[in-house]
Formats: sequence, C-alpha cells, structure tokens
Amino acid sequence: MIWERKVAVSKMTSSINSGTNTWSAPSNIALVKYWGKKPVQLPANASLSLTLNKSKTIVKTKWEKCTDKEAQLAFTFEGKETPSFNQKIQKWYESLKREMTFLNQVKLTINSTNTFPHSAGIASSASSMAALSLSLMDLAKTIGVIDLDEASWLKMASSYARLGSGSAARSVYPVAASWGLVDNEFASAVQDIHPVYRDFGDAILIVDSGTKAVSSSLGHELMNKHPYRDLRFAMANRRVGELVELLKKDDFEHFSHLVEVEALELHSMMMTSNPSFILMKPKTLEIIDRVRKARANGHEICFTLDAGPNIHLLYPQRAREFAMKFVSECKSADLLDQGQWIDDQVGNGPTKED
Ligand code: DP6
Repeated sequence: MIWERKVAVSKMTSSINSGTNTWSAPSNIALVKYWGKKPVQLPANASLSLTLNKSKTIVKTKWEKCTDKEAQLAFTFEGKETPSFNQKIQKWYESLKREMTFLNQVKLTINSTNTFPHSAGIASSASSMAALSLSLMDLAKTIGVIDLDEASWLKMASSYARLGSGSAARSVYPVAASWGLVDNEFASAVQDIHPVYRDFGDAILIVDSGTKAVSSSLGHELMNKHPYRDLRFAMANRRVGELVELLKKDDFEHFSHLVEVEALELHSMMMTSNPSFILMKPKTLEIIDRVRKARANGHEICFTLDAGPNIHLLYPQRAREFAMKFVSECKSADLLDQGQWIDDQVGNGPTKED
C-alpha cells in the first residue's frame, strides 16, 4: 500500500480559536549521505544519520483561526524578517496548504532561533524544517484535524519535514534515523542501537565559517547527470544496510572505515561532477591526516564531512579525553576558523518546550 499523508487530515473539530506551541528539533549528521533526488523531494538513495543534541532550532508558533483570505504565515528568524529563509519557508507553507487544508483557516506567526551561530557553517535546514513540521503537526493535533498514534504522527511529521528539506526528515527521531531504507516518503528510527552510539561524541570543527560554495539543491541536481550516479546510489544503499548492522555492535574499526570512505565518496562526487567542486580546504585535509595518524596510534576518533569543509570528529565517550586534546591541538595549530568548534554529541531528538 502506498503511504498517504492526506488521508489522515480532516476538518477542524476543536472549538479552540488560538494558541501557541514551542518545539525544538536537533540537527543531524549523515553518516551515509543523501545526495541526489527524484521528484518530489524523494531520495535517489538511502541515507542514515546520527541525531545531534546541542545544535538545535527552536520554533515558537502562535496561531489563530481566521478566514481563508486572512490565512498567512508571518515568519521571522531570531526576531527579524530574513528574506533568504522566508522564501524557502513560504514555498513549503504554500505546498503544505494543499494537503494540510486547515492551514487555510489559520493565521500563523512563527519565530525561529538556532542554538548554533549562523556563521558556524552548519546547515540549519534539517533542524528548522523538522521543528516547523513538528509544530504544525502539533497544531493539527490540538485543533483535532488529526488523530494518530505516536508512530504515525511522527511519520507524518517526518514526511512534511522532508518536503521542506530532505535531511530534515531524519531529524524528528532520537539517536539515529534512516531515510529511503524503510520508505522514501518519511524517515524511520534505527532500531537495536548499541549503547555506545547513544551518546557518541561529535566535535564539529569549523574550518571555514563562510556560506556554502555549493547549495544542496545544486549538489543534488548535479547527480542527475553524474557519470558515477548509478554506482554511487548502489554504494550508498549498500552502506546503509551495512551501517544498520554495525550500529548494533561496538566495532569502531569497521564503523570508522565505513564512515570515512562514505564522506570522501560524497566529496569525490562533487569533485567529479560538471561543474566540479572542491569543498575541502587545505586545513580540512590537514585535520583528516591528523585523525588518521591518531587512529593508527590506537585512538578511537574518525571523521565525516557534510557538503562543506568542516569536520565532524566522531568518537565514543571513552575516547573523549583524547578527542578534546585533539581539538585543542587543532586550535593551537590554527586549523579552526577563529578557533570555532561545537562540542556536540548524539541526542534524544525533538522536544516540545511548551
Ligand atoms: C550533504 O537536505 O540540505 O547534508 O532536500 O535540497 O534541502 P534539500 O537538501 P539537504 O541535503 C543534505 C545533503 C547532505 C547529506 C545529508 O544530510 O544526508
């Protein structure tokens, strides 16, 4: 059976006329990357990510019932109108209105804030689209247009988040989530995870805090005509299957190999696309070299990369002391942009703040 978001949404039944809710959703770091898509916002390959803890978006939504004509979304980021975000969010909101028909009868005022600095070079679309989707799904529950069990509610939230930004689909779950393995429409929580991954460390080392040289949209598009596309999609799908199994065990050696090769494969796709992009910086390579040397000396640290130059230094908590020494040496060696890094780790997913 094809899963349908629409069937679950019906008319407003509640007599409540206005209210607020606040949701926070974390960012996530993909271990197997979503890179390439099919219409509409469906992944060309399966992906798998760890949910972060500290790097979050907090969305506060005020709503009141209104007529069709008055229905609108007034969106601010950190209290200000931000045209670059607004455009993406308004487009998402317009597309949602066709399915979440109750949105045609409510006026929304939403303010969004991030716990991480805008200049940190971290993509905020995953956490913000997840928080927005959860907030609207919460509203749908409050006004009685949906009546779903928790699991189905989360699937629907994941699916709406996905329409805003693919990677956001994975941010609605704690610890680890896959997308495109169980279903393409929504992400799913990874099951039977070994305790070592439940608080796995992710030190985000900011090598360059500038804006992204390749937007995700362009990156995904470049895969359409990529000479290695079929092989890449097959490799990613295979790796997600392998990683789901690896996450059940405490096997850092295999984990680090898979995760690093996957990160480098993402970058090799960018390097060999037309046009071609090299997003790693000399300092990225210097840190990678240091990570590999440390591992050769028996230290349990490894790296992954997003579509940019920053390093996510991953480690089990038992290696935290060494990881912190490693970060401080990177800082002293002037490998971090203004010494910036974020001390994050795997977390328990979104929360309703009020
Ligand atoms: C490299 O989710 O940002 O971070 O769906 O166009 O919003 P859109 O793309 P986006 O792509 C994320 C790409 C990635 C890998 C990943 O998170 O899986």
